[in-house]
Amino acid sequence: MFVERNYSILRARVIEIINRAFPMRRREMVYFDSAATSWPKPPEVWQAMEHFIKEVGASPGRAGHRRTVEANQIVDETRQLLASLFNINDPERIVFTLNATDALNMAIKGLMSQGEHVITSSMEHNSVTRPLHTLESHGVQVTKIKCDRQGKIDLNQVEQAIRPNTRAIVLTHASNVVGTIMPVQDIGRIAAKHNIHFVLDAAQTAGILNIDVKRLNVSVLTFPGHKGLMGPQGTGGLFIREDVNLRT
Ligand SMILES: Cc1ncc(COP(=O)(O)O)c(C=O)c1O
Repeated sequence: MFVERNYSILRARVIEIINRAFPMRRREMVYFDSAATSWPKPPEVWQAMEHFIKEVGASPGRAGHRRTVEANQIVDETRQLLASLFNINDPERIVFTLNATDALNMAIKGLMSQGEHVITSSMEHNSVTRPLHTLESHGVQVTKIKCDRQGKIDLNQVEQAIRPNTRAIVLTHASNVVGTIMPVQDIGRIAAKHNIHFVLDAAQTAGILNIDVKRLNVSVLTFPGHKGLMGPQGTGGLFIREDVNLRT
């Protein structure tokens, strides 16, 4: 009885605080799950989707009629916008995927072969650790650099972990758990110095932080469309630098 009364007083107090903080629309809910997917999306996003479904509705590049041409233009324009956002020379090096997990699986499994070595960190999302775990059972060697309690990575440990057969460093740009921003410029410098690939998981940073693939020496950039870029769910992509061949 006592617990119930206190609970309802507390509940009423919380509702009062929320109502005061959010007097406008949607005050019944405060959305805190933006690291998983952004919401609400800007009206331009669902208006563009509505336009596509109602007015275009064709597969890009599959025929020569007006609707497929427009669908193609939309895809091209999206590639160009992404290329200018990430400072990519050739928009054709961008591949669209279902999400960042899909892009990371393509990048990691397409890059690494049996007998090769890859360096990663203890701050990675499952979409990095799981494909790497699978690859370990196929003869890929994985070094996981343990980050400290703030999620910071020791650059000396990264450099010391490099072996003659190291092919890539796979690293998140920002942790989805503690928010730590990784020293990606230094990692890119280390990768360039040792002539190894740098795969950057920009799931939490694409559309939020500045990402310049040339300045950061990124070989493969993976990103979601549905988080910081404010696109719909089911969208993502990867950029594959000209000198990188991914097996499919
Ligand atoms: C750091 C990081 N990498 C990858 C992913 C996977 O992203 P997606 O939901 O687009 O598959 C997430 C998702 O939260 C993430 O936080």
